[in-house]
Amino acid sequence: MKTILVTGGAGFIGSNFTNELIKDPNYKIIVLDKLTYSGNLDNFSDETKKSPRFSFVRGDIADRALVRKLMKKIDIVINFAAETHIDRSIVNYDPFVHTDFIGSYVLLDEFRKAQKERFIQISTSEVYGSAQIVPMTEEHPIAPQSPYAATKAAADRMAYAFYKTYDLPVVIVRPFNNYGPNQYPEKLIPFFITNAWENKPLYVYGTGKNTRDWLYVKDCVRALKTIIEADIKAIKGEVFKQRKVHEKIIQHTF
Ligand SMILES: NC(=O)c1ccc[n+]([C@@H]2O[C@H](COP(=O)([O-])OP(=O)(O)OC[C@H]3O[C@@H](n4cnc5c(N)ncnc54)[C@H](O)[C@@H]3O)[C@@H](O)[C@H]2O)c1
Repeated sequence: MKTILVTGGAGFIGSNFTNELIKDPNYKIIVLDKLTYSGNLDNFSDETKKSPRFSFVRGDIADRALVRKLMKKIDIVINFAAETHIDRSIVNYDPFVHTDFIGSYVLLDEFRKAQKERFIQISTSEVYGSAQIVPMTEEHPIAPQSPYAATKAAADRMAYAFYKTYDLPVVIVRPFNNYGPNQYPEKLIPFFITNAWENKPLYVYGTGKNTRDWLYVKDCVRALKTIIEADIKAIKGEVFKQRKVHEKIIQHTF
């Protein structure tokens, strides 16, 4: 049995990941979450809450002593913890620098010292900025355009540097916009739905002609499970956008 440290596991994607992985008796899960405004214990299913293979720790990923203690108990880290709303990062970027960059760095540093099996950094397609090439591939230039995207890009490249410099088993994932259950209503799809319920206007930025890729959160979780189960020697140092996960892992593995 393997133990996974799921940081930010009480948030949107982290809770969907936890609720799915707990069904597999091969995994124990420790969620580390600060429970900011977007973290919610109600996001855990009854099955998760009742499972003897699930435990919850309230805390900050930038708390080095706590992270060091938890690192002794686990095999795999998957780092979802972040401040995630672009608009908030424009108003106040301090929490973004603290969690998205410093917090990720503390996790990577303690992971390096503990020498565990694999570290999955959940980055974001926002690190690419606006599309210069369509469709965007993992080779698209990194050109973040908001404080959120810049701190995520910094953590993404720090994770890569830890792989390149110390040969650490790090994998980076850059999902596009996810949608589905447990999403905090400030994000576009739940925001539009709740505004429509209340007969409020549905504003779009710019001309309304911008396009975005969307990914159902449970498909995202399936891809992440594939990354957890793939041969780490074949995928360490890789960057994955979700749509490529199965294709790329198959290429590497066979
Ligand atoms: N939602 C998307 O569409 C999307 C797309 C691409 C990438 N991502 C990335 O996926 C990850 C999860 O996104 P989400 O939408 O589930 O976010 P979310 O805002 O729903 O959840 C974030 C979680 O992190 C926790 N957290 C925040 N600061 C913390 C800290 N210092 N220590 C411990 N926990 C902390 C919060 O309490 C919350 O539970 C993030 O890293 C985000 O950048 C999200």
